[in-house]
Amino acid sequence: MVLGSKEGVAHFIWAFCGPGDSIGISDPSYPIYPNQVWLSGARPVPVPLLEENRFLPDLDNLAKIGNKIKLLCLNYPNNPTAGVADLGFFRDIVRLAQKYGFYLLNDCVYSELYFGKRKPPSILQVPGAKERSIEFHSLSKTFNMAGWRIGMAVGNKGLIQALLRIKQNTDSGPFGAIQDAAIYALNHSEKLAAETRKLYLRRRNIFCDELAHFGWQIPKPAATFYIWTKVPNKSNSYNFALSLLKYCRVITAPGIGFGRYGKGYIRFALVQNEKRLRQAAKRIGRWLS
Ligand SMILES: Cc1ncc(COP(=O)(O)O)c(C=O)c1O
Repeated sequence: MVLGSKEGVAHFIWAFCGPGDSIGISDPSYPIYPNQVWLSGARPVPVPLLEENRFLPDLDNLAKIGNKIKLLCLNYPNNPTAGVADLGFFRDIVRLAQKYGFYLLNDCVYSELYFGKRKPPSILQVPGAKERSIEFHSLSKTFNMAGWRIGMAVGNKGLIQALLRIKQNTDSGPFGAIQDAAIYALNHSEKLAAETRKLYLRRRNIFCDELAHFGWQIPKPAATFYIWTKVPNKSNSYNFALSLLKYCRVITAPGIGFGRYGKGYIRFALVQNEKRLRQAAKRIGRWLS
């Protein structure tokens, strides 16, 4: 049990990585990955996630750095790109990890927030993956329990033990009532997760359809509650985000904040209700047209 995926990932990186180690980190990435790697004394090696590769790492590129890295950190479904990895991709990655001897971390906090028929897979579904992988999950996203701080780590015994070495000297687990709520959520997960998916699907469609009315066509993401898109007219992502705040009163995250390869992109988070999302999209649409 971890106090949310963020805590688990942070302590795992501290447990497993240190000076002299190189760690493969997606670019763009949820910022705690490169930051925790720096804090541990190790060095992040950027692994570009490009739109033309469906925001998956390029396997040839990974083969080039495979024998230099100790650990490759993945996060699928992905924040910020909303990219989804299929089982075939995970099979290829596990094969590379076995060939070059690096370990794998997958942060799959968004695995229940998908909109198609197929549920995004766990890397642990690949035969042999458990020998070199750890996966993090959380109740924050699926059950809207972000403030409650509860999640889990599963996978290779040695990797879990490394995490435990730090954790048993750091915290003593969440308050009992939070654990009871988590048990309830997990026992009713099919129904609760289906409701959450419906909510984000409606929000996604409202926001994207409204912007499309104004001529900004954004491909609808297949998972997560993020929309990751190129900023119009090749503008600078930071200035564009500032303008959205100033002229539309809409807060977004500029792509450049997630890494060099986030340049030129912007991330919307569908964390407001339908009425406010529609209003936000209308303001942006009017301002752009
Ligand atoms: C990829 C990723 N991992 C972890 C977290 C944090 O999750 P938790 O609340 O479980 O710490 C987030 C939240 O934004 C996230 O996007």
